[in-house]
Amino acid sequence: MRKTKKDYSQELLSKLKRRKATIGIIGLGYVGLPLAIEFAKVGFHILGIDLSQKKIDLLKNGKSYITDVSDNEVKIFVLKEKSIQISSSYNILKRADIVCIAVPTPLKKTKDPDISFIVSAMRELKKVFHPGMLIILESTTYPGTTKELIASEIEKMGHKAGKDFFVAYSPERVDPGNPHFTTWNIPKVLGAITKTGRKLAYELYSSFLKNIHIVETVEEAEMAKLLENTFRAVNIGLVNEMTIMCDRMGINIWNVIEAASTKPFGFMPFYPGPGIGGHCIPLDPLYLSYRAKMYNFYNRFIELATDINGNMPGFALSKLSHILNRLKKSFSTSKILLLGIAYKKNVNDLRESPSLEIYRLLLNENAKVDYYDPLIPEFQEGGKKIKSISLEPEIIRKYDCVVVTTAHSDVDYKLVLKNAKSIFDTRNVYKGVKSDKITRL
Ligand SMILES: NC(=O)c1ccc[n+]([C@@H]2O[C@H](COP(=O)([O-])OP(=O)(O)OC[C@H]3O[C@@H](n4cnc5c(N)ncnc54)[C@H](O)[C@@H]3O)[C@@H](O)[C@H]2O)c1
Repeated sequence: MRKTKKDYSQELLSKLKRRKATIGIIGLGYVGLPLAIEFAKVGFHILGIDLSQKKIDLLKNGKSYITDVSDNEVKIFVLKEKSIQISSSYNILKRADIVCIAVPTPLKKTKDPDISFIVSAMRELKKVFHPGMLIILESTTYPGTTKELIASEIEKMGHKAGKDFFVAYSPERVDPGNPHFTTWNIPKVLGAITKTGRKLAYELYSSFLKNIHIVETVEEAEMAKLLENTFRAVNIGLVNEMTIMCDRMGINIWNVIEAASTKPFGFMPFYPGPGIGGHCIPLDPLYLSYRAKMYNFYNRFIELATDINGNMPGFALSKLSHILNRLKKSFSTSKILLLGIAYKKNVNDLRESPSLEIYRLLLNENAKVDYYDPLIPEFQEGGKKIKSISLEPEIIRKYDCVVVTTAHSDVDYKLVLKNAKSIFDTRNVYKGVKSDKITRL
């Protein structure tokens, strides 16, 4: 006999309260892996799916590839307690009561959203779907995705949302490398397709989170995430534009921001840099402007911020050319060391990294470029393996200019200052240090 709506939701609610629900997580990256760890910590059994065999092998050997997750946590939950089971096969999800989707949402070459990862995850999930499942999308995406790509896809199979299955959207807000805010203490926004879905998803997240903000629709939750990241991109764009202006006027932007920050209300500091990177800030606003165009709405702030932020690596390069000029050098006769290749401090993530963009621009100018990054010992570029140099006095002395591109904490900046011929500090790591060697962004 077919189960009633009450049966499915009550059954899942009861399992959730007893921590007996099995949670599938699709995509074990910067978002999915920490989420799996948090659920495991409060006693749930996790089925983690990832298509990357390399990641699966690392996890099965007790190794983490994410700076915010320790090897020890992987060892405890994957190897010792076995509360996180890892696989590349969706088959194990047949046993899942809940499935969280945390796959990438990048851009296509045309800068339009590439939602193919969500589509392919859903294609596989549909094969193992069973009535009663709660599906939660955590990936950042444009408003409408949860309904169109998740709920409708299951409804096409003949199931009714809120009755036979449940759907919610809860954007992840994790800030990799931030020691103060991680998956377990960042308030979560939650929207669901139906009241029952909302209740179930709330019960799930409240297992480890105190602060959950419920919105009325999934679209509000989808849009909230895009507002947050668009706010960031636009404000970084503003401060980057101010930086270029201050450079013309001979004013130190870092001191200006520090002074403005003393205002206890109405001002929030954002900092300039050689560009913006990562899988979120440069991309997410474009998800929004893409969707808005379907409503004949054109987001001028997003276009402007994208333009300004996208041109910062070029601005950094032009400042570097002035530094080299002072040394009577050109790019093609110079040796440059980039200090940091990750997109921001204290992460090992190279996606959309402005440092990488600067690396490429310098190669185009025939400069000799090396990099040092304690968190990224090597990376692939143009089919070649590029390795980090080791940061030693005699090695530093070989370069005409050291460019601080990423402000990692674990770098001996004093050693660099002592030995470098010249320094271009795009991150203000030498705040307050007076030296003729240093030029700031
Ligand atoms: N990285 C961040 O700081 C951050 C913060 C908040 C939100 N987000 C959002 O979260 C989502 C995930 O981002 P991320 O940084 O964790 O990405 P990631 O690339 O680190 O992780 C995604 C994982 O999904 C796997 N994958 C891809 N397609 C798959 C499929 N069909 N089935 C199973 N696994 C698959 C990949 O191998 C990868 O390991 C994105 O939408 C992103 O915008 C990211």
